[in-house]
Amino acid sequence: MPPSSSSSFPRRRFLLFLALLSACLAAPGPVDGAGDGDGAAMQALRRDLAPPGWGPGADHCAWRGVTCAATGGAVTAIELPRRGLRGDFSAAGALPALARLDLSANSLRGGVPTALGALPRLEFLDLSMNALTGPVPAALAGASGLRFLNLSNNALSGTIPDELRGLRALQELQISGNNLTGALPGWLAGLPALRVLSAYENSLSGPIPPGLGLSSELQVLNLHSNALEGSIPGSLFQLGNLQVLILTLNRLNGTIPDAIGRCRGLSNVRIGDNRLSGAIPPSIGDATSLTYFEANTNDLSGGIPAQFARCANLTLLNLAYNRLAGEVPDVLGELRNLQELIVSGNGLGGEFPKAILRCRNLSKLDLSYNSFHGDLPEDICNGSRMQFLLLDHNGFSGGIPPGIGSCTRLLALQLSSNNLGGGIPAEIGKVKSLQIALNLSFNHLVGTLPRELGRLDKLVTLDLSSNEISGQIPGDMRGMLSLIEVNLSNNRLSGAIPAFGPFQKSAASSFSGNAKLCGDPLDVDCASIYGSNYGMDHRRISYRVALAVVGSCVLIFSIVSLVVALFMWRERQEKEAEAKKAEAGEVVVAAPQVVASTVFIESLQQAIDFQSCVKATYKDANELGNGTFSTTYKAVMPSGMVVCVKKLKSVDRAVIDHQTKMIRELERLAHINHKNLVRPIGYVIYDDCALLLHHHMPNGTLLQLIHNDWNSDGEKQKPDWPRLLSIAIDVAEGLAFLHQVATIHLDISSGNIYLDSHYNALLGEVEISKLLDPSKGTASISAVAGSFGYIPPEYAYTMQVTVPGNVYSYGVVLLEILTSKLPVEEEFGEGVDLVKWVHTAPARGETPEQIMDPRLSTVSFAWRRQMLAVLKVAMLCTEHAPAKRPRMKKVVEMLQEAKNS
Ligand SMILES: *[C@@H]1O[C@H](CO)[C@@H](O)[C@H](O)[C@H]1NC(C)=O
Ligand SMILES: *[C@@H]1O[C@H](CO)[C@@H](O)[C@H](O)[C@H]1NC(C)=O
Ligand SMILES: *[C@@H]1O[C@H](CO)[C@@H](O)[C@H](O)[C@H]1NC(C)=O
Ligand SMILES: *[C@@H]1O[C@H](CO)[C@@H](O)[C@H](O)[C@H]1NC(C)=O
Ligand SMILES: *[C@@H]1O[C@H](CO)[C@@H](O)[C@H](O)[C@H]1NC(C)=O
Ligand SMILES: *[C@@H]1O[C@H](CO)[C@@H](O)[C@H](O)[C@H]1NC(C)=O
Ligand SMILES: *[C@@H]1O[C@H](CO)[C@@H](O)[C@H](O)[C@H]1NC(C)=O
Ligand SMILES: *[C@@H]1O[C@H](CO)[C@@H](O)[C@H](O)[C@H]1NC(C)=O
Repeated sequence: MPPSSSSSFPRRRFLLFLALLSACLAAPGPVDGAGDGDGAAMQALRRDLAPPGWGPGADHCAWRGVTCAATGGAVTAIELPRRGLRGDFSAAGALPALARLDLSANSLRGGVPTALGALPRLEFLDLSMNALTGPVPAALAGASGLRFLNLSNNALSGTIPDELRGLRALQELQISGNNLTGALPGWLAGLPALRVLSAYENSLSGPIPPGLGLSSELQVLNLHSNALEGSIPGSLFQLGNLQVLILTLNRLNGTIPDAIGRCRGLSNVRIGDNRLSGAIPPSIGDATSLTYFEANTNDLSGGIPAQFARCANLTLLNLAYNRLAGEVPDVLGELRNLQELIVSGNGLGGEFPKAILRCRNLSKLDLSYNSFHGDLPEDICNGSRMQFLLLDHNGFSGGIPPGIGSCTRLLALQLSSNNLGGGIPAEIGKVKSLQIALNLSFNHLVGTLPRELGRLDKLVTLDLSSNEISGQIPGDMRGMLSLIEVNLSNNRLSGAIPAFGPFQKSAASSFSGNAKLCGDPLDVDCASIYGSNYGMDHRRISYRVALAVVGSCVLIFSIVSLVVALFMWRERQEKEAEAKKAEAGEVVVAAPQVVASTVFIESLQQAIDFQSCVKATYKDANELGNGTFSTTYKAVMPSGMVVCVKKLKSVDRAVIDHQTKMIRELERLAHINHKNLVRPIGYVIYDDCALLLHHHMPNGTLLQLIHNDWNSDGEKQKPDWPRLLSIAIDVAEGLAFLHQVATIHLDISSGNIYLDSHYNALLGEVEISKLLDPSKGTASISAVAGSFGYIPPEYAYTMQVTVPGNVYSYGVVLLEILTSKLPVEEEFGEGVDLVKWVHTAPARGETPEQIMDPRLSTVSFAWRRQMLAVLKVAMLCTEHAPAKRPRMKKVVEMLQEAKNS
């Protein structure tokens, strides 16, 4: 018995012991007699475990998740997965007829109760996905009827006890995702009924038990991510029943047994990241169901067996990073279903394996880091589904075939470090799908850069460095709107580097090694090469200003200058348009300090004192929040009214000079009336500051709700999912309305979403958006996009906040709600924000459950279902391509649908 659990409930345990004892004495045989005893045990379970829906009624057979025998009322099954349970369930050990106990995906803590060992009729025990600690109790051996035992995804430690050898009926044993140590016991090989053994992600060492698979019809063996040693026993394949073999990430050595071919039903073999050696046995061709064969990063030698061609369903073949030699067999071209062929990092050679292009479903061909040579075929894509063509670090020669233009689905083309000559074909511009990388570096390419490169508007990385490319850099390359990383260094380029954000943001080493290239970011003045009349046009200068604004962390300072510029621009427009109309107005110069002040709402005019508002901003203690554009303070009026005062960070003298414009905007805004938008009730302008006044929101911001209050277990009510969902819908409605009146919000973040006394959500900082309103400006007006982590990716190139950009930021808020994580957190890793973390979860093999906050998602089925639906919406909103994001109106609809599902 684990010490932790025995000490926490000693009294309860003792009572339970008595209950067990009496149960044993009273009902040694027939189950029928057990009914009465179950009453007491079920009352105890209700008290200790407190499952929702277990009412006060005495008839426990009517409780949710409980099944009783047809006669006698003995409990035979308790099924309570995903109920948020966290109590003690050892009372279940006093239900002698219990055959099925499923408490998976709850929040159970402590040890696995030894009392369960007293259940001789127990066949199915699922305690997976909890927080159970301590060892696997030896006492479980008492439940000798167990056929399905699932303890996976807990925090169990210690070794697998030898006593469990008594569980002779075991068919499925799942203990993955724990902290188990020691060896897999040898007796596992002797269990006569074992079909599934899953113990991956533990710290198990020693060999795979010899003889495993000889005594039973073993179908699934999953032991990946342990520290297992020795070889893969041939016994696994002897009876020919194995379907899934997953041993990735261990320390297994020896060869792949020849017997593997006996398994006609073997579909999935993943044995990568081990120390396997020798040749892949040709018998692999007898495993005709094979769909997935992954043996990368081992020490395998010999050739790629042509026999793979007999596995007609083969979808993925990954043999990368071994010591394979020879050629890619032509017959592999018969694999109609092959989608990925990955053989990088071997000693393979010969000409480009043209035959493989007959696999019309091939989407990834990775031949990189081998010794292939000769020309690339003209029909290298031939209208196929190719997405990744990775041919770098080989000896390919000749030119890049113009046929590359038919690779209409290509995402990445890696041809670097070959012997390719000739020019870059203009057809490259037809590969509009190119997105991840175009890397032609370290070849012998000559000629000029084709203007058609400018058509690659999705491409993020372009590396043409270390070739012999000459001529000027075409201005058309400004069409590469998604470019982030560019490298044209070590060529023979000349002239001025075109003024283009991604170019100028690059390091000098992206352009160095071109003797006649000049301009930014090279520290070479074009005048010094081409004479004094060259360059330095106004566009370049203004571009540098814009770059300085975006690229740096001094966001706030930038805002100041932008706001100034904007107000001045607006003012000028105003003057030109309505030159005759004199500016008369409400501006009252009240005192040396307060320049102007107004309360828009008549009923509040008596209650608000402007001096108190100003004074409140002098004390840090009054600070409520800090946004990109403003700091918010709480101000108590002499009248007792509490007002929220927002001090604009961006204001200086110039703004004061242009204040009439601003005031007019504020007044207009006070008339925009939507229940989910914060509405200004007044303003104060004094010295060089502007204060905006709002109603005080007693429940703070969404940021605080998600990230502070909840975690601190404070006196505040914990948020629940329905509340969060309704907040999400509120904000979506507010934003949809803003978009409808052609206003773009500039700083959507959870810190800008305010909660009133009924937890209705109101989107704040609207006035600032209105004041800076970029939709009314021209493309040249670039506002600063808001808070870090919420900035849409396209902003880096467009420098404009757009309607889809708002949708993205809103999607980030949704993700925050679903995950309870901040938009930027260290745990995501360097350069990874919340959006990326969530979008790459499938690639990491993580399920939505591992992303969503389990405190919400495990409470009920209904909540989980709604959360999954909202997750889908959030994924859409945060799509990389702006055009793929839905409109806010549609978002509102989808969320309503999720709510009613
Ligand atoms: C636990 O394992 C059992 C038996 O292998 C299986 O039926 C059940 O679905 C598993 N539980 C979960 C939550 O996956
Ligand atoms: C496993 O143990 C290590 C240290 O012993 C601990 O850091 C880790 O959190 C444990 N993992 C689980 C899943 O409990
Ligand atoms: C495999 O590794 C074990 C130790 O883990 C070693 O004793 C054995 O000789 C190795 N076998 C081969 C074939 O390398
Ligand atoms: C290939 O897959 C199909 C569909 O899953 C299946 O019907 C067929 O039996 C498989 N072929 C082999 C040889 O296993
Ligand atoms: C591609 O694979 C699908 C199923 O995965 C199959 O139906 C189709 O026939 C394959 N295409 C070709 C051209 O073989
Ligand atoms: C290219 O496609 C055509 C028809 O789609 C086919 O006849 C030809 O064999 C293919 N070329 C290669 C190398 O697969
Ligand atoms: C292009 O490939 C070369 C190696 O061939 C590599 O060093 C370089 O980093 C790649 N360029 C980019 C931008 O990833
Ligand atoms: C560009 O490529 C060269 C090699 O050709 C490399 O030395 C340099 O660091 C690269 N520059 C950047 C910014 O990656």
